[in-house]
Amino acid sequence: MNDFIFKDNELYCEDVPVKNIASEAGTPFYLYSLATLRRHFKVFDESSKVLNSLVCYSVKANSNIAVLNFLFKMGWGADIVSGGELFRAIKAGVDVNKVVYSGVGKTEGEIEFAIKSNILMFNVESIPEVFLIDKVAGRLGKKAKISFRINPNVDPKTHPYISTGLKKNKFGINIKHAIPAYETAAGLSSIDIAGLDCHIGSQLTEISPFNDAVAIVKELLDKIMSKGFNIRYLDLGGGLGITYENEMPPHPSTYMNSIKNILKDYGGTVIFEPGRLIAGNAGIFITKIIYNKDTGSKNFIIVDGGMNDLIRPALYEAYHEIVPVIKRVGPRIKADIVGPICESADFLGKDRVLSPVSEGDLLAVFSAGAYGFSMSSNYNSRPRSAEVLVDKDKFHIIRQRETYEDLIGKETVPDHNI
Ligand SMILES: Cc1ncc(COP(=O)(O)O)c(C=O)c1O
Repeated sequence: MNDFIFKDNELYCEDVPVKNIASEAGTPFYLYSLATLRRHFKVFDESSKVLNSLVCYSVKANSNIAVLNFLFKMGWGADIVSGGELFRAIKAGVDVNKVVYSGVGKTEGEIEFAIKSNILMFNVESIPEVFLIDKVAGRLGKKAKISFRINPNVDPKTHPYISTGLKKNKFGINIKHAIPAYETAAGLSSIDIAGLDCHIGSQLTEISPFNDAVAIVKELLDKIMSKGFNIRYLDLGGGLGITYENEMPPHPSTYMNSIKNILKDYGGTVIFEPGRLIAGNAGIFITKIIYNKDTGSKNFIIVDGGMNDLIRPALYEAYHEIVPVIKRVGPRIKADIVGPICESADFLGKDRVLSPVSEGDLLAVFSAGAYGFSMSSNYNSRPRSAEVLVDKDKFHIIRQRETYEDLIGKETVPDHNI
């Protein structure tokens, strides 16, 4: 079942006409369906139960505290990559004992915040990082649980910018250095070695790179455990892809069953960090047409949402389906759908064929719930858009649109002595 559906050629989110939300919230805005989030939660949660597992939702995908609060209330923890994400997760009611912290550049202040917050575990990405965690934990009189993020050198066959598990990537520890890393950590008095971690990339649409990575990690796990290390957690990261256009990613249960096969004799907890799979198709982006511009060689539909709102097309040449919120009959048009930003990369879609549209009409950009708002910025001094959550026949503005005052609220002008 889809919760973004056309009824009589008009787009609804669950039971609410999208145009009604636009009248109240203004445009552009992100629109999320709680029913879809719930369904995605359920599918992943049930699939993961074939293993002794803990699911830590990847906050970076969609970090609105209303979305986080829902997933935490349903029982999941959080995968975080910054002090800011930890702050959000705590405000959204996370059980800190279900928080894992990845990222190559954790600062001393962030490490201190995480230790004081009693998170479950750091996924450590370098040797200098484990020394710093040991130092901070020692100063605080605590022991910090860690796992090492291992880079298995597997090609995830996704866009290079979201591929993380190749040896040329900055992430994790070269698999050849894994055992010495554990031996080094064993000598640190404020470190509790608890796990092994790996995350090879995002938007994976094939099962084989996962299988390859898990098989490599399992072999390493056995070696590490045979040396007497008590690896209670095996974190396999996120990465399962979604359908943007016509991709056919593996179903979570296919993925879980194939992993289960590889891990059959492992008795610890397996951690998953899904992000895109949960939020991506639970959200759309709504934008309004400002102008139709015919340059003589090309048609441009210029809309009020730009690359500052949704950067995926500009950054990865990502495809998002774009459809008018009200479908009209008449000759179809072909155009590039572009934003108001002063960059040629500012497009939402190229050479799109649409049913007829006019200035003032709304367009829906699909599959925008993950890495949409969370990657947005104020470039060109554009206030960031609103976020709205629909639950059956009600909608809630879960983030107000920013104002011009918000743009300069943190800025000050010194005396220039002119
Ligand atoms: C360490 C880690 N875990 C989980 C994720 C979530 O990945 P996805 O949204 O593809 O599930 C990411 C995304 O890049 C990540 O870097």
